[in-house]
Amino acid sequence: MRILITVCFDPIGHFAAILSASLAEYNPFLTLKNTVIFNEDCLEILRSIPEASIDMIFADPPYMLSNNGFSCQNGKRANVNKGDWDKSRGFEKDTIFHNTWISACRHILKPEGTIWISGTYHSIYQCGYLLQKNNFHILNDITWLKPNASPNLSCRFFTASHETILWARKEKKAKHTFNYDIMKNGSFPEDKLKKENSQMRSVWSITAPRNEEKEYGKHPAQKPLDLLKRIILASTKEDDIVLDPFCGSGTTAVACSLLKNRSFIGIEIDKKYCELAKKRCLQTLHSDFGFF
Ligand SMILES: C[S@@+](CC[C@H](N)C(=O)[O-])C[C@H]1O[C@@H](n2cnc3c(N)ncnc32)[C@H](O)[C@@H]1O
Repeated sequence: MRILITVCFDPIGHFAAILSASLAEYNPFLTLKNTVIFNEDCLEILRSIPEASIDMIFADPPYMLSNNGFSCQNGKRANVNKGDWDKSRGFEKDTIFHNTWISACRHILKPEGTIWISGTYHSIYQCGYLLQKNNFHILNDITWLKPNASPNLSCRFFTASHETILWARKEKKAKHTFNYDIMKNGSFPEDKLKKENSQMRSVWSITAPRNEEKEYGKHPAQKPLDLLKRIILASTKEDDIVLDPFCGSGTTAVACSLLKNRSFIGIEIDKKYCELAKKRCLQTLHSDFGFF
């Protein structure tokens, strides 16, 4: 029995309906207000979610870059391996894996829904190709510039200092959510490239997660909260349901609950990361700092 916390959802709510009807056979790892996290394989859970029921998906899949290489962390040589989950199974098997979850995501998105996928060159071209193959319409490829990226040790090529985040909508003709005014006129003090009251561009300068974001432990691929806050602010509205199939330390869950009135479904295969996500979600619930 893996239910840790149970609260009642609005019984007539769409979110509650999805959970009670289609996911009843799975015990959530965490159920906290309008946040639910499953400690399962996402391929399993995605199959059980009703067609056209989700407003927005943020996916941060394995980058398949754990190849025994080295990088530099805090001035020291460090192995790049993040875990077995991040090892490539070879190009063909990786492609099948990405295609399976991307097509499952398409099935559960509403026609006007959008999907974000983050990655480096190890995986992002495959994901971009598969988005197009699955009839998604690409809206933007965001460059997430990391101003504090680690130096390159080999000195034989350029220092990797960005990731790419693709944003695509399910149907070319449907009207997706884009909160243009908030992106243009909102406050983004973390980003040295964003000029006040001018259009948000597709290069975002955001540093790695701050120490306080790692208070409860580290995830080797944890995304900065500022990045997820921006993504959710840009592409969702009140009462939307956001899903993250590879939710790791729960950054998307925390960003959703800070923004309020967004429901969240997260899936994470590794129990230790579910524990970390749970601690972060509980802390957010008990602190009173929303950003609205
Ligand atoms: C790149 S990390 C996501 C990090 C997350 N965005 C964060 O901020 O913490 C990918 C995560 O996917 C998980 N994972 C890998 N394969 C999975 C699968 N089939 N189903 C669900 N989770 C999976 C890994 O355990 C890992 O935590």
